[in-house]
Amino acid sequence: MVILGIETTCDETAAAVVKRTADGRGRILSDVVLSQISEHAEFGGVVPEIAARAHVEALDHIITKAMAEAQIPFRALDGVAAAAGPGLIGGVIVGLTTAKAIALAHDKPLIAVNHLEAHALTARLTDAVPFPYCLFLASGGHTQILGVRGVGDYLRFGGTVDDAIGEAFDKTAKLLGLGYPGGPLVEKEAARGDAQRFALPRPMSGRRDADFSLSGLKTALRLAAEKIAPLSDQDVADLCASFQQAVVDVVKDRLRSGLRMFRLRIGPPNALVCAGGVAANQAIRKVLHRVAFEVGTELVAPPPALCTDNGALIAWAGTRVVMNGSSHQFSVSHSARPLSGIMRAKTSLRAALPSLFRL
Ligand code: KG4
Ligand code: ZN
Repeated sequence: MVILGIETTCDETAAAVVKRTADGRGRILSDVVLSQISEHAEFGGVVPEIAARAHVEALDHIITKAMAEAQIPFRALDGVAAAAGPGLIGGVIVGLTTAKAIALAHDKPLIAVNHLEAHALTARLTDAVPFPYCLFLASGGHTQILGVRGVGDYLRFGGTVDDAIGEAFDKTAKLLGLGYPGGPLVEKEAARGDAQRFALPRPMSGRRDADFSLSGLKTALRLAAEKIAPLSDQDVADLCASFQQAVVDVVKDRLRSGLRMFRLRIGPPNALVCAGGVAANQAIRKVLHRVAFEVGTELVAPPPALCTDNGALIAWAGTRVVMNGSSHQFSVSHSARPLSGIMRAKTSLRAALPSLFRL
């Protein structure tokens, strides 16, 4: 089975062709990603209207390239998948409408993929990780801890109540005048800074749930910076190091909590899987290894290019739908729902106790 996947939910215009073989494994035949970073850099973040227009300009070229690299004619496809949200609505409309046009013109099934579900299933494409596993998704738009029990069967243990982790890195970089995207720049500055110099808060730490809150940390950083302004190069490095250490500590605490909830509700995880651009951060990566080790499992980190947004994720998630003999109507539209079929896990451990007794 061969599926074309289209991704336009944020600032990557991407298309890929993925083949699912009879043994259930996936093979990426092509994977073309055009980043819009340069178009958003001067604004210090993604501008939705600019993103949507850039998708319109680039998408047909990107799809043509993906099909050429895969050496597949449209008529040989078994379906056309596009990310239908959650994401920036202008971009989603561009990708989904393009997928509809291709599916209609070539009489192929259309698959509207939930972007988060695509991230959740990537570890099965790259590492064939068996269910159930715990997913830590941390990007510029999302921060979630999910229990992945099967296709379409997800339990959400935690998420951010305000900023996503990547967004907090980006805003910190913007505040300190470092540029965009902020994550790699903050990490670089942090490497030569003193993480102990500024006592920044660790929001939500110690709570029984697995939720995140990053906006208070960001404000604390701003206040610390304002107090000592004008900033020297060393001040910037120390602020970055202190901020990154606070995020690392928060991730450690929140993931420990999420994995505790996972164990109570689902049992031992087969892996801790990370996804999203933030997982590229070495300090965060290190703490993920440690937390996974503590619960007797291992960290599975798909290659960076597949941790971030791309068409292969979407195509792979699409294969599952076509496998089940289903597809979507052409009337399908942008969906802001976090994840189809997802259940919010009870946040209190007491509420989870009955499942302990069943074990
Ligand atoms: O998954 P992704 O490529 O795109 C979406 O957000 O959809 O993630 C990008 C985010 C940005 O916020 C970026 O600053 C962050 O991931 N990021 C990092 C690092 N590399 C990328 N954050 C911290 N440390 C990094 N090394
Ligand atoms: Zn994403």
